[in-house]
Amino acid sequence: MDIKLWKNILRPYQQAVNELTLKFESLQREYRESGRYSPIEQVLGRVKKISSILEKCQKKGIDIEQMEEKLDDIAGIRIICQFVEDIYKVVEFIENRSDLEVIEEKDYIKNQKESGYRSFHIIAKYTVETLDGPKTLKVEIQVRTLGMNFWSTIEHSLQYKYKHGIPEHIRERLYNSAEAILTLDNEMSQIREEIMDSQNSFNIKANIIAEILNSIENLYAYANSREIVKIQDEFFKIYSENDSDKLERFSKELDIVAEGYRAQKL
Ligand code: GTP
Ligand code: MG
Repeated sequence: MDIKLWKNILRPYQQAVNELTLKFESLQREYRESGRYSPIEQVLGRVKKISSILEKCQKKGIDIEQMEEKLDDIAGIRIICQFVEDIYKVVEFIENRSDLEVIEEKDYIKNQKESGYRSFHIIAKYTVETLDGPKTLKVEIQVRTLGMNFWSTIEHSLQYKYKHGIPEHIRERLYNSAEAILTLDNEMSQIREEIMDSQNSFNIKANIIAEILNSIENLYAYANSREIVKIQDEFFKIYSENDSDKLERFSKELDIVAEGYRAQKL
């Protein structure tokens, strides 16, 4: 297969990765902008490198011509969550999406791998629109916590370093750290409600402040600068008091002021 052909084969996979990354990031933004806790913390995507595709095909005895059918992870999406509970929420989301058809699920959280590896894997079908019409391909979605991601990234690089097998004493250490991550994830789940509450209030406050600043900016079209300075001073005073309720009331008052100006102008 020549290089040009490789590029043609991999292009729709890159498109799928780009589209899905954007879609999951939009979901995250939607949560945050509506002042709700987002089960998605970070979205990563990649297309498997040609060298890794060749290596995997060779290792598994797959004919290159069959790689699209036989390899599930040419397009890979990784969704990182804060808590284990979030993973199952994200999985449910994926199962219910109309643009993804789940064909396989592997729960390595309930069934931890021998290495210590934990994550939830989904293989799904996804359709991209190309110049040659629609193309349905497979994507592998890995859903895991920040802790699980930390562990598997490190373990993966060691696997790469020790091509002929990680030495026993390092493997043991890795397994112990996987147990430590499990404990960490469980501990975090215990204080999840508390953490979510504080992150929510942070987001709600950030949204109110964005709204207030937007309203003040809009007022420039109607009010004179002396009035605007007065409003701004008041905003800074309320802001320094660090009271979300007061900020919210101020935001509503600003709306009324703006409404009054608009009515005058009409
Ligand atoms: P592959 O031949 O790798 O596709 O294995 P599989 O088809 O049995 O799928 P599996 O769900 O076990 O693994 C798919 C992917 O999960 C791998 O390509 C890795 O990215 C990741 N993975 C699975 N097991 C491990 C592990 O022990 N350590 C690390 N770091 N990653 C793993
Ligand atoms: Mg696989």
